[in-house]
Amino acid sequence: MLSKRSLVGVRWNVRTLAVLFFMLMGIQAFAQDSSVDSSDEAVSAGKTLFDTNCKTCHRLDTKLVGPALRGATERQPIDNVKSFIKNSQALIASGDSYANDLYAEYGNTQMPAHMFLSDDDLNNLLSYIEYGDKADPAAAAAAAGTEGAAGAATTGGGIPNEYLTVILAVLVVVLLLILVVLGLIISVLTKYLNKQELDEDDKEFVSQKFEAGKIFKSDGFIIIVTAIVIALVAKTALDGLYSVGVQQGYAPKQPIAYSHKLHAGTLEIECQYCHTGVEIGRSANIPSPNICMNCHTHVQNVQGAEGVSPEIQKIYDAVDTNTPIEWVRVHNLPDLAYFNHSQHVKVGGIECQTCHGPIQEMEVVGQHSALTMGWCIDCHRKTEIATEGNAYYDKLVQIHADSKDALKVKDIGGLECAKCHY
Ligand code: HEC
Ligand code: HEC
Ligand code: HEC
Ligand code: HEC
Ligand code: HEC
Ligand code: HEC
Repeated sequence: MLSKRSLVGVRWNVRTLAVLFFMLMGIQAFAQDSSVDSSDEAVSAGKTLFDTNCKTCHRLDTKLVGPALRGATERQPIDNVKSFIKNSQALIASGDSYANDLYAEYGNTQMPAHMFLSDDDLNNLLSYIEYGDKADPAAAAAAAGTEGAAGAATTGGGIPNEYLTVILAVLVVVLLLILVVLGLIISVLTKYLNKQELDEDDKEFVSQKFEAGKIFKSDGFIIIVTAIVIALVAKTALDGLYSVGVQQGYAPKQPIAYSHKLHAGTLEIECQYCHTGVEIGRSANIPSPNICMNCHTHVQNVQGAEGVSPEIQKIYDAVDTNTPIEWVRVHNLPDLAYFNHSQHVKVGGIECQTCHGPIQEMEVVGQHSALTMGWCIDCHRKTEIATEGNAYYDKLVQIHADSKDALKVKDIGGLECAKCHY
């Protein structure tokens, strides 16, 4: 009887292992799906395309007009890298935060579109980007040192894809070996039991065949599948929740057709001339009609037009009746969060455009950044503090001198809840 029980145990283990095996094959397929072809043909086809279309602005391991490209497929999903190469402006306009951050980081330099590239071309380009010109490992290592930190920050750490694949492959091999050994044990046990005196029941049990269908009915399989489905549903729900209240792209119609493109762009009026608060306090301030009147007492219309422009008449009406112009607020953090302009603009030395986008090109102002907590934190993780010429930081710089990483906002408490929440 002991032998029969152990046979049951072994059979059960075979079933569980088989389930695990199929799952790993599934995950493996996933990992494979998103990796880049490293074959020589693909790399050399990619090099030709790269040399004719990209070389003026890019190198693999050093920064030129655009970023060093090696590792690009790890910094954002492969499909996004492809869309970026085909038409970066479309991806940026879609609000993708990685693309927008990168665009801002490179001073809003527009990378030309490459709509003519086929999907094969794109795959070959990626092969070259990731596996081409490996001859210079020193340069690659140096680049990995500087670019690696940024890459890790944007992907949020985690196990790099290639390690994951290796680990999975090893696991699959080990599982296969165990399966084979268990199979051998079963056949030996079966043979042995068949030689014994057995009653009908036991005989039937011993000679039953292994059925694949049973795997799908086994508890282990059902539990694992349920867990995967729950995880997927939860992720979708969370993604949805995170975008609740995010107003990126919001560009309401304003009561007066005031244009930043004309005033801040063409006429080159300083932002601070109207947004008087940015360097001194928390709020940037929206200008009162009096500030408009500094010029519009004289300027009654656009050059060459007759009479008073109806839009400018609205300014006069507001001043005459002493009623404020009811500008529609575009950017609005919830009350629970504290944001201070002077801290960022005056102390931090950050350009308005980094957060607000190319305002001087906007006819109507729209919200450029997501303004989520993740957005604030992400920048605080990545951004170095402008310590130069700021005596306030001298001490801190000395203390920090031993560390090889630059002093980032996170190091001065930029990730502490209480700094941003009351
Ligand atoms: C005129 C210069 C220019 C050319 C030509 C150009 N790029 Fe770019 N590329 C840039 C700039 C600048 C950026 C940084 C993002 C931005 O400002 O839009 C960039 C970003 C990228 C990125 C994102 C990098 C990252 O770290 O994620 C990829 C990928 C890329 N380029 C691939 C290509 C490929 C492939 C080609 C050729 C088919 C190409 N680029 C041609 C200027 C250029
Ligand atoms: C001549 C005055 C003037 C100048 C110069 C000016 N602005 Fe404005 N700005 C306004 C007015 C008026 C509004 C409110 C109406 C609107 O949203 O268009 C505004 C709105 C904004 C908003 C949206 C505020 C909200 O409701 O969230 C931002 C952001 C902004 N300006 C940034 C800038 C930047 C950056 C510059 C410099 C490149 C600049 N402004 C230059 C007058 C000005
Ligand atoms: C430093 C001077 C200056 C200030 C301050 C200024 N403007 Fe202007 N604005 C001008 C000039 C100059 C023009 C005409 C440009 C042209 O001739 O094309 C103009 C044009 C306009 C127009 C276009 C009129 C039309 O018929 O299309 C509007 C609307 C306007 N301004 C609104 C405002 C508002 C609102 C403010 C205050 C928030 C303001 N401006 C502040 C200089 C100024
Ligand atoms: C670090 C990112 C950042 C920078 C840099 C920045 N802003 Fe803002 N700005 C914000 C955020 C976040 C809000 C929303 C604030 C709120 O709702 O409390 C905002 C709001 C505004 C508003 C609406 C009124 C207000 O104060 O809430 C104006 C106008 C404005 N910014 C103008 C500017 C100008 C002009 C500059 C450059 C001199 C600038 N900002 C630089 C992030 C930034
Ligand atoms: C573009 C980058 C950037 C973004 C986006 C940004 N910050 Fe900052 N923030 C900085 C920098 C740089 C400093 C450091 C300024 C200095 O030298 O004190 C800073 C400092 C701060 C501080 C002071 C931290 C301390 O320990 O003294 C607070 C609070 C803060 N930010 C809040 C916010 C909030 C809230 C948001 C989002 C609504 C935000 N920041 C978005 C760059 C950014
Ligand atoms: C750099 C600034 C910053 C820091 C640091 C920060 N937050 Fe936030 N937090 C924000 C901003 C901005 C929002 C509002 C964003 C939004 O509405 O999407 C927010 C929103 C929240 C919310 C409300 C979420 C919602 O959807 O209403 C909670 C809860 C929260 N933060 C908790 C925390 C905790 C806990 C910490 C510390 C571990 C922390 N925050 C650190 C800036 C910050």
